[in-house]
Amino acid sequence: MKQDMIVVLDLGSTENTVLARAIRELGVYSEIHPHDITAGEVKALENVKGIILNGGENRIVDGKEVEVNPELYTLGYPVIAIDCPSAKCEKCYAKLPDKEALKAFVFDTCKAEANWNMKNFIEDQIEQIKKQVGDKKVLLALSGGVDSSVVAAMLIKAIGQQLVCVHVNHGLMRKNESEGVVKVFRDELKANLIYIDASERFLTKLENVADPEQKRKIIGGEFIRVFEEEARKLEGIDFLGQGTIYPDIIESGTKTAKTVKSHHNVGGLPEDLQFALVEPLKQLFKDEVRACGLELGLPREMVYRQPFPGPGLGVRCLGAITRDRLAAVRESDAILREEFAKAGLDKTVWQYFTVVPDFKSVGMKNHERCFDYTVIIRAINTIDAMTASIERLDWDVLEIITNRILAEVPNVNRVCYDMSPKPPATIEFE
Ligand code: XMP
Repeated sequence: MKQDMIVVLDLGSTENTVLARAIRELGVYSEIHPHDITAGEVKALENVKGIILNGGENRIVDGKEVEVNPELYTLGYPVIAIDCPSAKCEKCYAKLPDKEALKAFVFDTCKAEANWNMKNFIEDQIEQIKKQVGDKKVLLALSGGVDSSVVAAMLIKAIGQQLVCVHVNHGLMRKNESEGVVKVFRDELKANLIYIDASERFLTKLENVADPEQKRKIIGGEFIRVFEEEARKLEGIDFLGQGTIYPDIIESGTKTAKTVKSHHNVGGLPEDLQFALVEPLKQLFKDEVRACGLELGLPREMVYRQPFPGPGLGVRCLGAITRDRLAAVRESDAILREEFAKAGLDKTVWQYFTVVPDFKSVGMKNHERCFDYTVIIRAINTIDAMTASIERLDWDVLEIITNRILAEVPNVNRVCYDMSPKPPATIEFE
């Protein structure tokens, strides 16, 4: 292993990630583990240089204060505790130590080396993946999103053709998006990629379905069915690759913190498809995942892709999806993205897209009455997607986009800008 490591044990702190990130900022790798980790499990982590018991307001679980396994004190690693009255070590801090104190512990007491960087992280992960997978095969649902793309690039580097990627095009992808996945992964990275164009199947299932929740359920359920059908056709798969990242684990609930929302990266695959999981990004934060992707050689636009909902353009073609309105969403979205990139807004605005509602309005084209669709532009900024404010878009940019949409997108005669913050509006319309 290339990197030294400081282990943070979660004894009910709400600041585990703050602490782990502070240590990583010192150039030393840090992982967060549950309080009840065994001595054997700590030893198996390799290159551990010290342990921090991180207590806090969630330390009482089921009426009892959480404690660590007493053998951890006898392993010979330096141990300190933060806000942790039951700890039996040297040094106890009432709250998160400042940078100098943390530096002193990490470098002077633990003698850790500042050798955490993406290159070393990738090499360590590759070594672990090879050890875990051996000569077996790994299946990966490759959506083209940041996390699954970075996992794919990492697994290709580690096990090459033993990785089988499946990309399901549900017909609700953005313009040229599936083509981009095939180009990068099959043509450039030489991945073993199965591309399934399931567009017709999804669009047929969605015909006349107007209820947003039902649309989401159909898209999610059908996705699993298509993926499962492919998985069953393949032979000798033992592992499933997943793009789980650290925030997914926290939001899904730890042993001391409550669930915010459950994350299902491949969402409810049937239990008889028994796979062991390979999750090489599960200790990374989003910005680190992007850095990892760049280091692995993925294109910038893939690594810095804005968030895109699983149900894709399906929740932006409002009400019952029709092919002409879906085409209008796809084309107008492509124009919006192109103009945002030209204006440099792709680097500053958090999320931007178009939607097409299921009504028409009267207009004039070529001196004749027309009755066509409306495109709504939405551009928002947010930190965590829980609340959002609108982008105060430059009037000239808005006009250029509007004129292009009206000139280039068939069946559209009106463009609006959505001024609504979240709350009360959500970022997506459905
Ligand atoms: P809302 O509409 O809830 O969206 O304000 C918050 C953020 O989440 C994205 N979003 C999704 N992402 N699967 C995802 O992976 C989904 O089903 C989904 N729905 C919404 C949305 O684009 C925004 O960034």
